[in-house]
Amino acid sequence: MTRPAVEAVEVGKSYGGVAALTAASFTATAGEVHALVGENGAGKSTLIKILGGRVRPDTGVVRIGGNAVSLSGPQAAHDLGAWTVFQELTLLPWMTVAENLLLLRETKGATGLISRSATIRDADALLARYGVHHIDPRALVEDISLAERQTIEIVRAVSNNPQILFLDEPTSSLVEREVEWLFGQIRALRTQGACVVFTSHRWAEIRSIADRITIFRGGKDVGTFTEIDEGEAVRLMTGRRVEALYPPLPPMPNAAATALEASAMSGPNVRGVSFSLHAGEVLGVGGLAGHGHRELFRMLFGDATATGGQLTVHGKTRRFRSPRAAIAAGIALVPEDRKTEGLLLRMSVRDNATLVILKRLTRFGVLKPAEERRAAQSVVDSLRVRTAGISQPVGALSGGNQQKVLLGRWLLAECQILLLYDVTRGVDVATKHEIYELVLKLASEGHAIVFYSSDAEELAHLCHRVLVMREGVVAAELHAPGITAEDIVSAAVRDHLAA
Ligand SMILES: Nc1ncnc2c1ncn2[C@@H]1O[C@H](COP(=O)(O)OP(=O)(O)OP(=O)(O)O)[C@@H](O)[C@H]1O
Ligand SMILES: [Mg+2]
Repeated sequence: MTRPAVEAVEVGKSYGGVAALTAASFTATAGEVHALVGENGAGKSTLIKILGGRVRPDTGVVRIGGNAVSLSGPQAAHDLGAWTVFQELTLLPWMTVAENLLLLRETKGATGLISRSATIRDADALLARYGVHHIDPRALVEDISLAERQTIEIVRAVSNNPQILFLDEPTSSLVEREVEWLFGQIRALRTQGACVVFTSHRWAEIRSIADRITIFRGGKDVGTFTEIDEGEAVRLMTGRRVEALYPPLPPMPNAAATALEASAMSGPNVRGVSFSLHAGEVLGVGGLAGHGHRELFRMLFGDATATGGQLTVHGKTRRFRSPRAAIAAGIALVPEDRKTEGLLLRMSVRDNATLVILKRLTRFGVLKPAEERRAAQSVVDSLRVRTAGISQPVGALSGGNQQKVLLGRWLLAECQILLLYDVTRGVDVATKHEIYELVLKLASEGHAIVFYSSDAEELAHLCHRVLVMREGVVAAELHAPGITAEDIVSAAVRDHLAA
């Protein structure tokens, strides 16, 4: 075996009374792609933050290039050739893509001042070098999609020619084609002898690119493998068996009432989208990122203004001017970016879970704390949120557990129409299975569900119908049974391939 590039030896880290890592060890070598896997809250991100210099360990040793190191910050890691793409992105939203890309190495003009046009030009060249042609370097980061932000983070790290690259769930917001792009970058680094350590909850990806896999459970490694099947890996991660990831799709109720009807809806990036959604139905929405799904969801939720067309909710024509109006009409949205659109990170699990049902929990203007606690605890129990307790701040939960709190909030709200936007993003396999069961249960109880996912496989298994969007229009409508991921992907890219 070649020389170790990075080693963690019995690394421990606690936050207050919560042990994020107890004794985590693994070794990755030069020229290797090494996956760290484990359920939500297993400690993967904590370990990556430690290796990337963002967090200091309480106990244990970290070696980089064979030498024990004590990293004072990310810069210290960069100096040793180690770059990280963290799970929670770190770009500055109010700055441009170009500024974010070149932040640490601004282009100075003849006067010695940072030249805006030179920064744009350099960023353009950098993006082109990595085959990224669809992102405008002049755009503000807050205006680009999550997938685009993730792409920029990756380009920023990779363009520094890392000896070691840590990627924490880099694919969770990317769709297939972007994942292929990323894997191309990873393979190139491996060929050059670099070491790539990444985390993912998508088994197919792990199998396709990882040379070795280390499994974590409860803050500790439980084994490193070159060959292991998914069932066995899940058992080691969770202590449980998941027989089939996808539960069977219940039949669509006959003659169910129409819950939502969109006719020729248009708006930013959406052109003439029509569909009707019945009670009891799971309507999938798929396609490549940037083709209008996000805007469609925002329009349905009153968070973006439709410029044309008509929306009918339970038989009444509606024109929502705000999410508040949509919520009042019984529509809930679980959004894409939990950090900026969904959760109040400093507030507790309890406050976040009960945010939209506060009215129901209030009597004569006074909150009923016992009921509030009970409601929040029911979210924690039913979705198996890993938390030290409902008064823990949401920001202290692992990524996947934050996602569960957000989903739980809307389940409490008992809205009839649920707009679920990539709800299983970053969620571990066992919990994914639970969320799938929950979605189908909600449907069979009469909820009407619009379900966007960046995972075509998931759409194929979980939806009665799938609308594939391309350039803001519905390019194909597929009906279960018999929808395949390939059908969805090929409908999404048909024109691109033909061109
Ligand atoms: N800043 C913090 N304060 C308190 N607890 C924390 C903090 N960061 C992490 N934890 C706890 O440490 C544990 C491990 O979290 P970590 O984010 O490392 O998990 P993970 O394996 O990355 O999970 P996921 O797959 O959901 O991203 C969790 O129980 C989490 O609640
Ligand atoms: Mg994590």
